[in-house]
Amino acid sequence: MKIGLLNGGGDCPGLNAVTHGVVGTATRLGWEVIGFKEGFEGLLEPVNYKLLKVEKTEGILKLGGTILGTTNRGHFSSKVGAGGVRRIPKELMDEAIKNLGDLGVEALVCVGGDGTLTTALEFEEAGFPVVGVPKTIDNDLGATAMTFGFDSATQVVVDSLDRLHTTAESHQRVMVLEVMGRHAGWIALYGGIGGGASAILIPEIPFDVKKVADSIIERGKRGFRSALVVVAEGAVPRGGELTIEAAPEQGEVRLGGIGMRVAAELSELTGKETRCTTLGHLQRGGSPTSLDRVLATRFGVKAVKLIEEKRYGRMVSYQQYHVGSVTIREAVRKLNLVDPEGEIVEAAKSIGVCFGD
Ligand code: F6P
Repeated sequence: MKIGLLNGGGDCPGLNAVTHGVVGTATRLGWEVIGFKEGFEGLLEPVNYKLLKVEKTEGILKLGGTILGTTNRGHFSSKVGAGGVRRIPKELMDEAIKNLGDLGVEALVCVGGDGTLTTALEFEEAGFPVVGVPKTIDNDLGATAMTFGFDSATQVVVDSLDRLHTTAESHQRVMVLEVMGRHAGWIALYGGIGGGASAILIPEIPFDVKKVADSIIERGKRGFRSALVVVAEGAVPRGGELTIEAAPEQGEVRLGGIGMRVAAELSELTGKETRCTTLGHLQRGGSPTSLDRVLATRFGVKAVKLIEEKRYGRMVSYQQYHVGSVTIREAVRKLNLVDPEGEIVEAAKSIGVCFGD
């Protein structure tokens, strides 16, 4: 059997570990794996691919980024604006499916987030067998308890907060850290708790900056000389709007800038010196954590098993410490967002973290 493999959307630590898992498993079954470059774009003329042999994937498990390349723009972008979806034109689908057929590829493993899986579903609906692997640092895909890449991104946030803490203490400052996550607050929530932030602002809980300022003033009265505030890029002030850095002609809007706004307002309201750091793509770069390496490997292995069992149209899913699968349709139906009343937010509040609500 010959199978195809591609990555779509933003890169994320662990993509190469999936490739390693897919190629290792497929090779042991006597199959060939064709890796398409730069996501679905690699399926178009001139078809851009490489044959992935185990010798070529030796040692890539621990590498960040992706040896195949990826894109979150281009002809197959299914996500537009702030949460909109578009269908892929039929002639493009026909061309891609013909090229797959010409190469003798019988099934395609699509590794990606919400957008990539939405496009993968269109291939399935057009009659080409696909299986999906969930990937995103944002951890915002429904139907899987965790995506690989999230732990690595969160670790960067925690490391950054540890560093900000020592300088914040020295200067008695408020340090605001803006983190990624798009419309989900998982990175901010886990990173903030793990890094000891005193306030965490997430998209799921609209915030009142005065409440955050009051909590910092209150901390000061109890003898704390500094404060760490984590702000998710998609956090929204109560009654306000998303802060958008850019609205490109193609693809989704780029979020960014809310950290600076919050820092300026906190400085005014608390009278304390405040600085803002925007972590940006540092969260996506570098080697995956051990947890992400193992999760991504298991996902890659499971994707090949699904093809072996001809269970197409399904996405690998992590539930209760077990790697199983769900339909891709079910997976893209709903985003996985933080529950504002849930146990994790409750735990953070119990140790005094302010959410601005
Ligand atoms: O979806 C992953 C993510 O890193 C988001 O957290 C962030 O909003 C976005 O991608 C950034 O995309 P780009 O790399 O295109 O700027």
